[in-house]
Amino acid sequence: MADVLLIGSGNQDKARELAHLLEGLPWDVKSLPDFPPVSEPEEDGTTFKENAIKKARYYGEHFGVACVADDSGLEVDALEGAPGIFSARYAGAGCTYADNNEKLLGALENYPWHERTARFVCCAALILPGSDPHVVRGTVEGHIAMECFGANGFGYDPLFVPEGHARTFGEMSAEEKHKLSHRGRAFSAIRAYLESLP
Ligand code: IMP
Repeated sequence: MADVLLIGSGNQDKARELAHLLEGLPWDVKSLPDFPPVSEPEEDGTTFKENAIKKARYYGEHFGVACVADDSGLEVDALEGAPGIFSARYAGAGCTYADNNEKLLGALENYPWHERTARFVCCAALILPGSDPHVVRGTVEGHIAMECFGANGFGYDPLFVPEGHARTFGEMSAEEKHKLSHRGRAFSAIRAYLESLP
């Protein structure tokens, strides 16, 4: 029987993307709803990497299984890298994706297209029981649109136009987004690592 690989994310939108990105591996890939409820770990690291390791270690040790977790966010150059590791709660505790997008559009109100450069970053940490974390990072460069376009994906997707494209992630299918995205890139490295294991 295949070993369990737990996706350590309490964000159902992200967990769905990760399940898609890990399809077809010889692992029994599970998500948190497949296990008894557990409280979320505190995301008090100062980098994406620290938070990703923290989540993978917390859920992996709690359930005694291999665990992969990511920490991700949006870095906007005109805002000196904000919202960065605070992307999920940019507009305050308990805010919605729409609140965050509205706040971001307000912060960039007077910035023309060429000054709206940004990137999505994803750090993914894989921890096999008894092993050190294997950490990878994926990024995608792009621009913040002048308004929201599209209803696909989640989070800042309706505002993010990847470099070399004229549509936001919110206007792309999941397959199109995964080919370009920070998470798609980080998890193709995680897949390659898992496939290289004896
Ligand atoms: P985390 O759960 O702490 O990693 O929070 C990540 C946050 O960054 C999400 O709640 C979104 O606001 C944002 N984010 C990360 N990846 C994406 C993406 O692929 N699309 C849109 N927003 C994203």
